Amino acid sequence: MKPMILDVDTGIDDMMAIAYATHSPEVKLIGVTTLFGNVTVEEATRNSLYVLELLGCEDVPVYAGADKPLSRNKDAYAKHVHGDDGLGGALLDALPKGQAESLTAPQFMVEQARRMPGQLSIVSVGPMTNLAEAIRLDPEFVRLVGQVVIMGGAVTVSGNVTPHAEANIHSDPEAAEFVFGSGLPIKLVGLDVTMKTLLPRTRLREWRDKGTKMSRFLADATDFYIDAYERFSPGIGGCALHDPLAVGMVIDPTFCRTESMPVKVDTEGEHTAGQTYADRNVVPDGRPSIDVCLEVDADRFLAHFMSRVV
Ligand code: BDR
Ligand code: CA
Repeated sequence: MKPMILDVDTGIDDMMAIAYATHSPEVKLIGVTTLFGNVTVEEATRNSLYVLELLGCEDVPVYAGADKPLSRNKDAYAKHVHGDDGLGGALLDALPKGQAESLTAPQFMVEQARRMPGQLSIVSVGPMTNLAEAIRLDPEFVRLVGQVVIMGGAVTVSGNVTPHAEANIHSDPEAAEFVFGSGLPIKLVGLDVTMKTLLPRTRLREWRDKGTKMSRFLADATDFYIDAYERFSPGIGGCALHDPLAVGMVIDPTFCRTESMPVKVDTEGEHTAGQTYADRNVVPDGRPSIDVCLEVDADRFLAHFMSRVV
């Protein structure tokens, strides 16, 4: 069992990632850390606590983190994609019973990396602000973490919030640029592969038929998410499993083919801030390379995800 921290801005596909991790015996979810992104950090924390309770995993502790980017103001969330509550309206004013722990998200990451050198997997599926803060907090952190799998970026394809930028990177370009250059052992799961892992609306029937509170909740929230995809891409018929694929790469790293390359983030462009760019042939200024996912076995991944999340 690989010990894992899941860093989320919960979010409908973040919720799916939490469900996938808690239902997979290959990993042990030792904590969920939260931050702003799809919703505010308070909402991401509430949603994560609630989903863990629905899953019967209230023993998994939740740690709240960044409420804004490293050096920018935060003025927009993704409620048009994830709903006012971040869960497609499925929350229906329900509140979790539990609450977040007293350590902050970066403090928890640093504590756990020190406790188990070389073994901890951190899966980051929101902006990279908590990761950047953890690196700043402890100079040894980069060396102590086993692996970091990041959902973010678009190296060979267009962005999803602007023509150039993917949402998680666009939310805090400075944090992403810092993390990619830090030397952390990173696997990057970007739109290059996640847009190929579509969950078709027809599969929601399986969750509705199951009839548990969690499976109905998942189906309701995902219906909302697919409506958003249909508005942007009429006829797409499904939603991308962005955040679950990042968890999948810890469970089974053969889901994607990776190539090692340095990745940089545009932090200055008026129209291109948040763009990721990679050059396989040139290593600028000795910048460390990271493993970028370029191809995915989408059918095998979808089958695996659906076999676990029911
Ligand atoms: C990423 O942005 C968020 O809206 C999703 O939860 C995912 O982490 C996809 O670009
Ligand atoms: Ca997310």
